[in-house]
Amino acid sequence: MLASSRVLAAQRAVVNQRKRALHDLVTLPDRKPIVSQGTPGYSAVSGHVVTVFGSTGFLARYMISKLARQGTQVVVPYREEDTKRHLKPMGDLGQIVSMEWDLRNDDQIAECLRHSDIVYNLVGRDYETKNFKYDDVHVKGAERIAKIAAEVGVQRLVHVSHLNASSSSKSAFYRSKAEGEERVKAAFPNATIIRPAAMYGHEDKFFNNMSNWPIWWKLNHGETKIRPVHVMDVAQALANLMGTPSMPGTYSLPGPRTMTYEYLLDLVSSVTYNPPSGTPTLPKPVAMALAKAAQNVWWPALSPDEVERRYISDSEVAGDWDAFGVAPDAIEQHAITYLRRHRSADNFTRPVVFPDGRATAA
Ligand SMILES: NC(=O)c1ccc[n+]([C@@H]2O[C@H](COP(=O)([O-])OP(=O)(O)OC[C@H]3O[C@@H](n4cnc5c(N)ncnc54)[C@H](OP(=O)(O)O)[C@@H]3O)[C@@H](O)[C@H]2O)c1
Repeated sequence: MLASSRVLAAQRAVVNQRKRALHDLVTLPDRKPIVSQGTPGYSAVSGHVVTVFGSTGFLARYMISKLARQGTQVVVPYREEDTKRHLKPMGDLGQIVSMEWDLRNDDQIAECLRHSDIVYNLVGRDYETKNFKYDDVHVKGAERIAKIAAEVGVQRLVHVSHLNASSSSKSAFYRSKAEGEERVKAAFPNATIIRPAAMYGHEDKFFNNMSNWPIWWKLNHGETKIRPVHVMDVAQALANLMGTPSMPGTYSLPGPRTMTYEYLLDLVSSVTYNPPSGTPTLPKPVAMALAKAAQNVWWPALSPDEVERRYISDSEVAGDWDAFGVAPDAIEQHAITYLRRHRSADNFTRPVVFPDGRATAA
């Protein structure tokens, strides 16, 4: 017997001998017992089953990684085969279960969530397509998931909305997010509604877009104020919900500081060593006309509603981070991680320099 096999056999013997402790058992409000087993880590089994709608998106990949590494089984509904492949190695064998689904198919939704203790709805779209309008995705889709979750007896629903969701907003996107929240609350009164601000990270449409298309972030002379938040902090807050029995209500997750787009463009330019863009600030009617014309192409292009959103400052509500046990990081802490790829080869390893006047207060 090889030495490594002997070590493995000894480990197995120890694990098999291990007595269960009281903290290995969690009883859900419907009296369903959840039994965890194994040592903490990749191969542990937390006993929980979770469904994440919108699993193929930006935020979901970080949240699923955090859940799966605690040994939670995650059901990942997907539409297109290749979009969920990166999720498979995030958990041990059999822990990431992919299921095909359609937002308009009640049976598929029920199949996806019927064994889960907690359902996360991270489905959202920044722009409308010919098949799905904001109303289909953020209102009817969200309501459908909430109704079916309530019907099949899922204990908890976490619905992700947006910090600026408001029924009186000039943006159709924000209005649809607000209406979606109301429908979810009506169908599933104990739902936890999460309102994150704009998120930055590796696959974001924030830093990457700002670096590639500064002209679209100069609208309103860069004076619009926003509160960007690190995607990892939001993912951690969502993952922490697993440990709390119930948390009905609406929770805002903005970044720790308010800043203008002008400051953020300076930050991008300073961290990447790329000169500030010399393009002029487009007047709103011109930007709107260009965005409308851009809707004729078949790939996602800046929509008129996104132009409208560039003129709307983030809501100034207080953050509810304490409820999740997370303290959000400052954007300067992570800027280089996500912006280094936008540096030229000559500047790749140069020190990180921040612009003057770190951020503009609200
Ligand atoms: N990113 C931000 O800065 C930000 C800020 C505040 C709030 N939020 C909200 O947070 C949630 C997650 O954001 P994200 O950035 O991770 O979004 P994302 O990367 O755009 O991913 C959206 C997810 O929703 C799915 N989806 C969109 N339309 C769908 C449809 N018609 N049918 C089925 N699935 C559909 C996508 O599936 P496919 O891969 O199949 O398209 C994808 O899994 C969203 O609700 C978003 O509105 C995001």
